[in-house]
Amino acid sequence: MGKNKTVFLCNNCGYESIRWLGRCPSCKEWNTLEEFRVPDEKKSSPRPLQNTQPVSITDIDLTTDIRMLTGISELDRVLGGGIIPGSLVLFGGEPGIGKSTLLLQAAQTLATRGNNVLYVTGEESVQQVGLRAKRLSALDSSILLLAEHSLEVVEEAIRSIHPPVVIIDSIQTVFSDTLTSSPGTVSQIRECTARLMRLAKDTGCSILLVGHVTKDGGLAGPKTLEHMVDCVLNFEGDRHHVFRLLRCVKNRFGSTNEIGVFLMTAAGLEVVNNPSQLFLSQGDSQPGAGVTATMEGSRPLLVEIQALVAATGFATPRRMAEGLDYNRVSLLLAVLEKRGGLLLQGHDIYVNVVGGVQINEPAVDLAVILAAASAFREKKLLPKLLVVGEVGLTGEVRAVSRLDQRLQEAAKLGFTTAIVPEIGGIKVPPSLEVHPVTSISGALQIAFGGGDNS
Ligand SMILES: Nc1ncnc2c1ncn2[C@@H]1O[C@H](COP(=O)(O)OP(=O)(O)OP(=O)(O)O)[C@@H](O)[C@H]1O
Ligand SMILES: [Mg+2]
Repeated sequence: MGKNKTVFLCNNCGYESIRWLGRCPSCKEWNTLEEFRVPDEKKSSPRPLQNTQPVSITDIDLTTDIRMLTGISELDRVLGGGIIPGSLVLFGGEPGIGKSTLLLQAAQTLATRGNNVLYVTGEESVQQVGLRAKRLSALDSSILLLAEHSLEVVEEAIRSIHPPVVIIDSIQTVFSDTLTSSPGTVSQIRECTARLMRLAKDTGCSILLVGHVTKDGGLAGPKTLEHMVDCVLNFEGDRHHVFRLLRCVKNRFGSTNEIGVFLMTAAGLEVVNNPSQLFLSQGDSQPGAGVTATMEGSRPLLVEIQALVAATGFATPRRMAEGLDYNRVSLLLAVLEKRGGLLLQGHDIYVNVVGGVQINEPAVDLAVILAAASAFREKKLLPKLLVVGEVGLTGEVRAVSRLDQRLQEAAKLGFTTAIVPEIGGIKVPPSLEVHPVTSISGALQIAFGGGDNS
């Protein structure tokens, strides 16, 4: 038996090196490498003897639906139809976004469905969690609280109680006695996650981990954490807005395209069944506003794009984009200037997506262009108008995917006119007057009610 192996791991990106280095060659951060003693496998975890025989893939019992519904419809959808027993799910999110709230509510709905839930809290005391549970009306005797940091104690509790679902809030606070480094360091997070993964597979209980994110938006701890778990969900949203988006980043058992929309209220997170309504401004549209439909997973979402055009006081006019890619907006404004014939260079232009939604889909291009044109001309677009289309550098309007679904969503919300790219064979809802266009000049003409195109 050799000695324990020692490696050095980067705290920031998880890079592994056999010697200490001042600067990580991978992420270029200084002083982030730290020593990690790889525990002796034979000593620390004896291999389970069961399940080691190969089985034929056709002999596996697939008749029963093994997914466990949490009872929160949006969460179940994002998970791909419920939690798979024995899976490890990681919930990431910025501080205060509502991770603990969501998981406590999930614990409550799971408990009412007759499941024991073990809630390990490393960040708050049991009283504090209890107070939150009271506010969320999540006081249920099947939810067991454990205020603990030691991984060994948590493992012991899971093995003795054998709950179908375990929530660990958060993985950064859990530490293992077999390692010398402090909680929250990359070696601890890596080792604890690996041990929990093995435990989940051995016992068949599903473990939901809360993970903090760093200031640049990645999950704190190494990227390797994302590889180890079965499913990574990100809880996003602007803390100044009441809605929160649950986005799936990785899912071994389902689609990664789904998002869940929630509203944060005093009584906890509420499921939003019709998100489009949430992001549209109420009342009459104003100059500089245009509505478009973006696909969030398999669901269309109507959002309003707003633009403000003001005479500039700078030699180089300012361009600002909120919720959209800055470079993409600059490019679209250049296309509008050159192909649409609007003299924008003496103006500062600000473009914003209402409600703090982040969009990175080219299908909203045409709406950005029309909103900017409307702001520049100080003229409203047609009322109840939906604009969809990708715009190319020559000013052409290009096809987008799933146009039918986008149009249906618009019709459902009372839109009467739509400007879309030319695509054959789409089903148009009867209440919607659809104008296919091939270029932005055609779109500009229709959007302002025909005629004047100056
Ligand atoms: N009484 C209340 N009324 C309305 N909203 C509340 C109330 N109490 C808490 N909240 C909301 O809950 C959020 C905190 O939720 P929670 O503690 O679940 O976040 P978290 O993501 O777990 O945070 P952390 O990273 O600190 O653990 C607050 O930012 C606030 O928006
Ligand atoms: Mg929390």
